[in-house]
Amino acid sequence: MKTKKTVLLGITGGVAAYKAAELARLLVKAGFDVHTVMTPAAKEFITPLTMKAVTGNPVFESLFDPLHRSATAHIDLARDPDIAVIAPATANALGKLALGMADDLLSTVLLAIDLATCPVLLAPSMNTTMLMNPAVQENIRRLAARGYGILEPGEGLLACQEIGKGRMADPLEILARVQAILERKRDLEGRVVLVTAGPTREALDPVRFFTNYSSGKMGYALARAAVERGARVILVSGPSELPLPAGVEFYPVSSAQEMHRVVMDKVLEAEIVIKAAAVCDYRPELIQEEKIKKGGDLALKLVRNPDILQAIGSEKGRRFLVGFAAETEDLLENAVQKMEKKNLDMIVANDLKREGAGFAAETNLVTLLYRDGQLEEMPLMSKYDLAHCILERVSARTG
Ligand code: PMT
Repeated sequence: MKTKKTVLLGITGGVAAYKAAELARLLVKAGFDVHTVMTPAAKEFITPLTMKAVTGNPVFESLFDPLHRSATAHIDLARDPDIAVIAPATANALGKLALGMADDLLSTVLLAIDLATCPVLLAPSMNTTMLMNPAVQENIRRLAARGYGILEPGEGLLACQEIGKGRMADPLEILARVQAILERKRDLEGRVVLVTAGPTREALDPVRFFTNYSSGKMGYALARAAVERGARVILVSGPSELPLPAGVEFYPVSSAQEMHRVVMDKVLEAEIVIKAAAVCDYRPELIQEEKIKKGGDLALKLVRNPDILQAIGSEKGRRFLVGFAAETEDLLENAVQKMEKKNLDMIVANDLKREGAGFAAETNLVTLLYRDGQLEEMPLMSKYDLAHCILERVSARTG
């Protein structure tokens, strides 16, 4: 029986390959058993001997290496690890994985890895123009949508002497992500979580609508994190450009009325409901059948949309309800009022006036308020990390 968690470290041929040795050293120091697979191009930048010396393990370089214990080494290598990290991941490596190509040991092993049992983190690293190339961006989005973890490249001076985005994520940051993923509990196994995300669109005529700035990032992060913690996740989302988190049951909607209908139907299956969607409170009383023509001033009558969360709260049963409050003033007072009015167990209050919080940002800055009067101020963090913090609290209160 193995005593250490195993990391498969894939190195592809980019200048940042030299940092893979530092990453391996950090992983070994943190107690991981590290097995390295190098592509032929990676060996132009760093030697297998260096990786062998740092990890204390033989390095795998070829599909047909006499070093392999069996004739199906790519399958053995894919079965063993608890997590795989490809650092650096070149444009070529990302493209091959996105297309399902397997023409060397690493790309073959990657296709043989089951993401449900072995998470794979990709650390892209390349010149900014290459990184921003639509083909590379599309591959990254595709891979993220399939459930690969993307370690965002940093900005700075690149090997090509340009300044921009494309530096491989810092080895310490990669180590932290590996540790966070492997230490994460599957504490929502067997639970059904309904998450709402994104804005709603309230049509005015065939070409115009009212909406808000919600991107869906907070709700999608919650859905992804809930899947990672073992839940069955029902995601009901207004229009969003984001890739769908792997493993969710997805119900796209447009208007608040549509979201209301779908949520009231699906909520019967859920024990935990998290409403991160920014639902438009009002909609035009009439949707004009034809495009409204320019003329003089125009007065519109708006009517109230159903309050979905309040409707769930009024027939709460044993469900655990989490709401969000997006406020520009009197944050805590308004959040407490919403929690009481909607019969919630917990509310996540975003202070929209603070840098890095709220709509469309990658990060959020929130206060968590609970029905029993407890309050927790959270530091600035990514929406993904916040999603895990919220779910950890939900799990502790519903376990
Ligand atoms: O999507 P992002 O760009 O990542 O942005 C995230 C976010 C800022 C949208 C998110 O973190 C957030 O705060 N969502 C709730 C915003 C909001 O609409 O707050 P509210 O105070 O208007 O509503 C309070 C709660 O009632 C929310 O849980 C909301 O989903 C729910 N509600 C509101 C109105 C309505 N008609 N029906 C509802 O269910």
